[in-house]
Amino acid sequence: MSQLKIAFIGGGNMATCIFNGIVKTRNHEDQIMVSGPHLEKLAHFKEQGALVTSDNIEALKFADIVFLGVKPQIMPEVLDELKGSGVDYTNKLFISMAAGWRFEAFYSRLGPCKFIRIMPNTPAQLGLGLTSMCCGLDVNKEQEALCLELLSGLGKTVLTDEEGINSLGALAGSAPAFMYRFMEALVNETQKRGFSKEESRAIIEQMALGTAQMVIHNQDKDISALREAVTSKGGTTFQGLAQMTEYKFEEMMSQVIEACLRRTHEFENMFK
Ligand SMILES: NC(=O)c1ccc[n+]([C@@H]2O[C@H](COP(=O)([O-])OP(=O)(O)OC[C@H]3O[C@@H](n4cnc5c(N)ncnc54)[C@H](OP(=O)(O)O)[C@@H]3O)[C@@H](O)[C@H]2O)c1
Repeated sequence: MSQLKIAFIGGGNMATCIFNGIVKTRNHEDQIMVSGPHLEKLAHFKEQGALVTSDNIEALKFADIVFLGVKPQIMPEVLDELKGSGVDYTNKLFISMAAGWRFEAFYSRLGPCKFIRIMPNTPAQLGLGLTSMCCGLDVNKEQEALCLELLSGLGKTVLTDEEGINSLGALAGSAPAFMYRFMEALVNETQKRGFSKEESRAIIEQMALGTAQMVIHNQDKDISALREAVTSKGGTTFQGLAQMTEYKFEEMMSQVIEACLRRTHEFENMFK
């Protein structure tokens, strides 16, 4: 395993998650520097052997692979800083996790450079994430493979194009929030029927875990077949599902995903 020089510009939640994945899968092999405006917030990186700095340009100079971990609205000031630094970054590999930032927006600010876009989700904290990834201009197969390796500790990675990143941003990035909302509603219903808060949560947790495992362990069956196996005509589940149909559940989910994508496109227009 060859040692890499990696930087994170912005050391927040998602950068921490990716950093943890990298040090775990690559066994602390690499030299990593993290930059951010508040050094005291970067102590957890230092404890794991990383260098920390409040100077983004020091991190840029240090590394061959640069993760941009700042919020989308902070990106313009960071890119201006990189551009104005005089550092030759044309051979560095940038990896952006920012929603709404298309390759063209990076090229128009930085000039020709190598970019990979990724969109992780929060279950990556447990190594159970779904990350979408898309390579920009001049990124070669070796760099693509290296990025896939760096992300492997986060869970699964799906290679796609820029529209795919947007779609999976909604369907995998935002969707945990929809699943939490679904679970919150069921926990509330459990509590309403006399179970304690703790019991209700434990009941719905186990139901959700078991249901996800049923889907995973029955690859030869469509999910609809698993649903039908719980549903006898005229029975209790049947009545519940009929209410979901009456309340247009599928149409609602379609609108939910469309709303996410509309917002993504608004961000893209904002950061053009
Ligand atoms: N969280 C998610 O689930 C998720 C999923 C997919 C993609 N993303 C993307 O990941 C990126 C980061 O999100 P996050 O949730 O990790 O946000 P976050 O926790 O707020 O992290 C952002 C970090 O950027 C630092 N920062 C602010 N200004 C900076 C500057 N000028 N130079 C360098 N660092 C600076 C902040 O430092 P201070 O705190 O010290 O100000 C903070 O540590 C975003 O682009 C987001 O779209 C997040």
